[in-house]
Amino acid sequence: MLEKATLKLGETTFDLPIVIGTENEKAIDISKLRDVSGYITLDSGYKNTGATKSAITYLDGELGILKYRGYPIEQLAEKSTFLEVAFLLIYGDLPKKEELDKFQADISRHTLIHEDMKKFFDGFPSKSHPMGQLSSLVVSLSSFYPESLSARQTDEEKNLTIIKLLAKMATVVSWIYKKSIGHPIIYPQNKYDYVTNFLNMTFGQRTEEIEIDPVVVSAMNTLLILHADHEQNCSTSTVRMVGSSDCNLYASIAAGISALWGPLHGGANQAVIEMLEKIKDDGGDTEKWIKKAKDKDDDFRLMGFGHRVYKNFDPRAKIIKKACDDVLNKLGISDPVLDIAKKLEEAALHDPYFVERKLYPNVDFYSGIIYRALGFPTDMFTVLFALGRLPGWIAQWKEMRENKEPIGRPRQIYIGEVNRDFSEIQNRK
Ligand code: ACO
Repeated sequence: MLEKATLKLGETTFDLPIVIGTENEKAIDISKLRDVSGYITLDSGYKNTGATKSAITYLDGELGILKYRGYPIEQLAEKSTFLEVAFLLIYGDLPKKEELDKFQADISRHTLIHEDMKKFFDGFPSKSHPMGQLSSLVVSLSSFYPESLSARQTDEEKNLTIIKLLAKMATVVSWIYKKSIGHPIIYPQNKYDYVTNFLNMTFGQRTEEIEIDPVVVSAMNTLLILHADHEQNCSTSTVRMVGSSDCNLYASIAAGISALWGPLHGGANQAVIEMLEKIKDDGGDTEKWIKKAKDKDDDFRLMGFGHRVYKNFDPRAKIIKKACDDVLNKLGISDPVLDIAKKLEEAALHDPYFVERKLYPNVDFYSGIIYRALGFPTDMFTVLFALGRLPGWIAQWKEMRENKEPIGRPRQIYIGEVNRDFSEIQNRK
């Protein structure tokens, strides 16, 4: 095993330490390179840059492996609940029975949000995007819990902030939905587990008790688990970057929510359904749309296809495809966009353009179809992704704090004008 890398710049050589992870991932540590050589490394989009050492999530994009704290995603999706996975990600181990009971009870105690915050929901225009609302509401929580602002919180205080955020997020998300359809909000109820409580606040009515189908609870658990963490993606790196300035948890997560909103990231689940709808309304000719996606002069991309790191398959897509079939069968829904999705997937998987570029359906290709079957409007999909990703963001923020990581501050290569003299406005050409 190599212990160091040697970089030769002209006649001078530099020894750079090698870092090896527990899954045998290898890195060259260049953190001192600029000090000793004057050079930085350049890697636009951080495609080959490790920003941290992390013990939370491991993924292998070539082999399609995803593990949280060492547990394969397939086992977690099949056997655990979202809350168990949240505990695992945040605290490092699967909870024992009494730990899980306490975690659930602690969360139940904090699901209410300050009554004054209800006015915030009223302030948004009725058609405003739920992701903008979510980001604003999450950062607003910091005003109600100013004790969270200190970068020097004790472990106990930090943990209480984490519990509050996990608890209140489900309430905030369901109230955003209720407001969007003009229905009265439903308060949380401690008799329910986390996911059932969320579904009750979202689909429940003040006029009558509703029955929540266990298939729906199970599908929701699966979706949230599959989205719970994905190591250093755009939104998670944002959370860590913002948190690295000693910024409080609420503000760091709100920044992550904004990063997730983009259609190249979490916003893809909304974009997928909008694309499938468009193809359906256009007559369902999938070949025509595949051709558009391949055309370099056309901006259109097949949404839900391709991934920055998965280059053979997305293991979450496999699990979700099955969950999708289960939900549609159980609820007796036949969705024409599912047929379009299947045709599109089939055609793309055999098309040399997609095969050569290793473009496969990602987790978002099917998640939207399930959310739709459960009754969520399209613009809520990315909000549900955020609800699922919350424990991962929290775990990453906590790890970054505990490791006392330095403030994030990338460098650049300047390529602009040099040495221009100021000219008075009347003399400018
Ligand atoms: N449709 C058509 N062509 C595509 C697609 C696509 N969905 N994705 C990538 N390509 C092509 C690119 O045009 C490029 O072609 P070229 O080599 O001829 O120039 C090549 O494949 C590589 O694409 P990049 O954009 O360089 O790949 P990158 O790793 O930077 O991007 C990304 C990954 C952003 C996910 C991209 O595949 C994409 O835009 N997909 C659609 C959006 C999407 O589904 N996002 C969700 C990601 S999963 C998540 O966030 C949970």
